[in-house]
Amino acid sequence: MNDAVFEMVLALHLFAVIFWIGGLLMLASLLGRVPLEVGLPKERLLGTVRRLFEVAVNFGAAITIALGIVLILMRPEVLTQGWLHAKLLLVAVILFYHVRFYRRIRFLEDNPSASTRREFAIVHGAVSLLVLAILMLTILKPF
Ligand code: HEM
Repeated sequence: MNDAVFEMVLALHLFAVIFWIGGLLMLASLLGRVPLEVGLPKERLLGTVRRLFEVAVNFGAAITIALGIVLILMRPEVLTQGWLHAKLLLVAVILFYHVRFYRRIRFLEDNPSASTRREFAIVHGAVSLLVLAILMLTILKPF
């Protein structure tokens, strides 16, 4: 019974991870297009980006973290394992990008010319590598 509840919470944790990370990667791609647009299409693009951030990305992050804490409470022994410490450190780096995205969106709303494709291509690559490392740590549990 306990195992079934754990697995259910795990499934919801992963569902929320998909929203959070999928949304962040989509934001990086959309923000990379901002310098290519002008006028109304640019404003619309920024509006879409903001809605995506406020709905999917914030929601995904909050549920991922809340259910991660529930998983730890259900299996407190994981707190002594090195892979979890390393994973939480990498999650903190993703959270740093999350907050930075929010600041960049607000800044770009006032200064729509102040971005380059390169900046968001780098962020897209960095977030992808962080998630790959988190998946390796969580699934292989190497230490
Ligand atoms: C980008 C963020 C995250 C990703 C990609 C991610 C990914 C995963 C994956 C793939 C699993 C399944 C592992 C397995 O069944 O072998 C898992 C489990 C788990 N996650 Fe996350 N997670 C993230 C964030 C978090 C956060 C923020 C916490 C804690 C606050 C957390 C705590 C846990 C715990 C405790 C488990 C159960 C581990 C076990 O006993 O097997 N996760 N996560």
